Amino acid sequence: MKRIAFILSLSAILIRSFSQGIDNDNFILTHGPWLQNMGTSEVTIIWTTNKPAIPGITLTLPDGKTRFVRNSHDGMIDGGGTLHKVKIDGLLPATTYKYSLNSVQILKYQAYKVYYGDTLRGKQISFNTMPSQSPNVCFTVFNDVHELSGKMASYLKHNDITSQDLYFFNGDMMDWLQDPEELYLAFLDTASFYFAGSKPFIYIRGNHETRGYAARELKKWFDYKDDRFYYSFTYGPCHFTVLDSGEDKEDNNKNYYGLADYDTYRLEELKWLKEEIESIPFKSAKYRIVMVHQPILRAENQNYAMTFLSENFGPVLKKADIDLMMSAHTHRNSFYEKDKTGYGYPLLVNSNNSFVEVNADNNQIKAVVKDVEGKVISEYDFK
Ligand SMILES: [Fe+2]
Repeated sequence: MKRIAFILSLSAILIRSFSQGIDNDNFILTHGPWLQNMGTSEVTIIWTTNKPAIPGITLTLPDGKTRFVRNSHDGMIDGGGTLHKVKIDGLLPATTYKYSLNSVQILKYQAYKVYYGDTLRGKQISFNTMPSQSPNVCFTVFNDVHELSGKMASYLKHNDITSQDLYFFNGDMMDWLQDPEELYLAFLDTASFYFAGSKPFIYIRGNHETRGYAARELKKWFDYKDDRFYYSFTYGPCHFTVLDSGEDKEDNNKNYYGLADYDTYRLEELKWLKEEIESIPFKSAKYRIVMVHQPILRAENQNYAMTFLSENFGPVLKKADIDLMMSAHTHRNSFYEKDKTGYGYPLLVNSNNSFVEVNADNNQIKAVVKDVEGKVISEYDFK
């Protein structure tokens, strides 16, 4: 009897699937999650599934109660695609929350007929919201990984993830972005595996992130503050000014095929920077840190963009009392004392084979440069 019932139910499933052309097998999480835009009261969680779904987040509050979060735009609940982005707001600062992904597969989506398939429920992960005030902040900086995610993974085995507040990817994490899959292989899967589901990261655009067709859609996979590649935020004692240095060559360079307009873009950014350095969060911060892929310093024989940035951004930053600039791009470890950059700030340039761990507290900013094995290469204190 049991066998007949089983055959009947199996037949029903097969008939339904074949008659509707529905593919409901192997509905899985494909990438993520990764946290973006962590604030004192909000965070954005991003992940992908292999088939279209309606995304949601089951949030567990500190008192154990749960809240189910879905987003909507223009009156419609978000969903229907495979890249999922859920923003949660109304959170408390410096609070630990637990969450799990919820993806409801869409088998059929028509005007008067929507069929749902399986619901994928992810494991519970926790994150801490940003404190509204804190005497210290810990962060790790990666740059110029150029898709060699194994190098990043090797280092991450030695990184004290639990004590980090956030991570920075300071550009050139990939060679170019032609196919979105490159993003996952380049660094996103590794980041998600080790930390990105519980610690937020800031993805700063390098010159290589501007290359390839899908580079135009880079923002789609992340959540940029103010929807721009340049912005600022305060975390603990540090105010971070994140800059986008754009491409490295002249806009009319033949490699850009007439599609580059970075001089105009950088001048727009400069206009914003002039306002930024006059803002209260900037001026009132204990430390002002500039994060930018291409270093901004006065030097001979620099590439076009670095010369442009030096001549235009350097004098503005010089007036701004910057405590530290962290850069990348040259694939070499170098450090410039504040009287050697031309603009009054110390500059730490991290290579493509090292990682920087920074701890800023009431007394100092301490930066430790480590190799892929986690061994210390150099240390710097900024009082
Ligand atoms: Fe670069």
